Amino acid sequence: MDQRVFASSMFLSLLILIVWNNNIVVVPQAEARAFFVFGDSLVDNGNNNYLLTTARADAYPYGIDYPTHRATGRFSNGLNIPDIISERIGSEPTLPYLSPALDGERLLVGANFASAGIGILNDTGIQFINIIRISRQLQFFEQYQQRVSALIGAEQAQRLVNQALVLITLGGNDFVNNYFLVPFSARSRQFALPDYVVYLISEYRKILLRLYELGARRVLVTGTGPLGCVPAELAQHSRNGECAADLQQASALFNPQLVQLVNQLNSEIGSVIFISANAFESNMDFISNPQAYGFITSKVACCGQGRFNGIGLCTPVSNLCPNRAVYAFWDPFHPSERANRIIVETFMIGDNKYMNPMNLSTIMHLDSRT
Ligand SMILES: *[C@@H]1O[C@H](CO)[C@@H](O)[C@H](O)[C@H]1NC(C)=O
Ligand SMILES: *[C@@H]1O[C@H](CO)[C@@H](O)[C@H](O)[C@H]1NC(C)=O
Repeated sequence: MDQRVFASSMFLSLLILIVWNNNIVVVPQAEARAFFVFGDSLVDNGNNNYLLTTARADAYPYGIDYPTHRATGRFSNGLNIPDIISERIGSEPTLPYLSPALDGERLLVGANFASAGIGILNDTGIQFINIIRISRQLQFFEQYQQRVSALIGAEQAQRLVNQALVLITLGGNDFVNNYFLVPFSARSRQFALPDYVVYLISEYRKILLRLYELGARRVLVTGTGPLGCVPAELAQHSRNGECAADLQQASALFNPQLVQLVNQLNSEIGSVIFISANAFESNMDFISNPQAYGFITSKVACCGQGRFNGIGLCTPVSNLCPNRAVYAFWDPFHPSERANRIIVETFMIGDNKYMNPMNLSTIMHLDSRT
């Protein structure tokens, strides 16, 4: 056979043609795996733009370094953690589930269900009014699967979900925007901190099991970062730039129990479904030694006002640093794109100080052989 004819018939055999109504959807079989994202503002790609909520990042200077230089709803100057993971697995960035552009073939890339302000608990983030709580995110995931089934058939849809990579980032807001939000908060009167953590973990267990029931088979679960070291907490609680002790204590209790939960679930299921990522350690590396990572500061946010630029929100009238790449924190709570890149790098290749039981490059290698 002529080389070119052979090559093009090979190419055709790599395509599945699906006829749906009058549309023909061409799905290259060898395309990157789908990617699904659940969680809070660290991973929201813009769902809150479609909601009546105060938790939003849809105005300048958010997105100032994004390819379009426009605010997209991401809580970053540029890309956020899921965008960089998408880049690393060779996919398009995930679209927010509420975006009207997420339709047809684009559904096959995956979807982002995350919503800024939410937590493990339903009462976390009530001050933001209308946000997509985690149980609703999981309902949307079910609805998504029905839509994909209609597009490519139930069996293919199931396979797409089983083979996908999933990211879930929860917990920070249960401390920052619930337990520690105000002195004598309802949750802090109800629970001592160690008991609150045990309660959070028991609720998180149900969420992770539900994800498994819905077909997720590779789920990256991030712990909380060093909550006491973000500029917003330094502004309120720090004399000389030292991290706020009570929030650091919360992370120190929560993260090891999350690792334990992940190990327990994997051993009950009998397979490596959940992979825990130690966001505390990967953030602490550049927070405690910013110069080694090319940052001039890890205490002052690029965008904000007041002490450490940590008071209030990042708005069009805030202070704005000229070079975002030398700031670890973009706004009072969220890392800059460059810091996000460092964090994702530890997810990809970190050893077991960061990743348990294995890193993402190992997972991708394993999954490429099946
Ligand atoms: C949170 O809300 C959902 C939906 O209303 C409900 O199914 C779930 O049980 C609630 N979780 C808790 C811990 O109350
Ligand atoms: C993580 O990834 C690197 C590079 O791919 C690999 O050499 C290393 O062994 C992995 N570490 C663990 C603990 O899986």
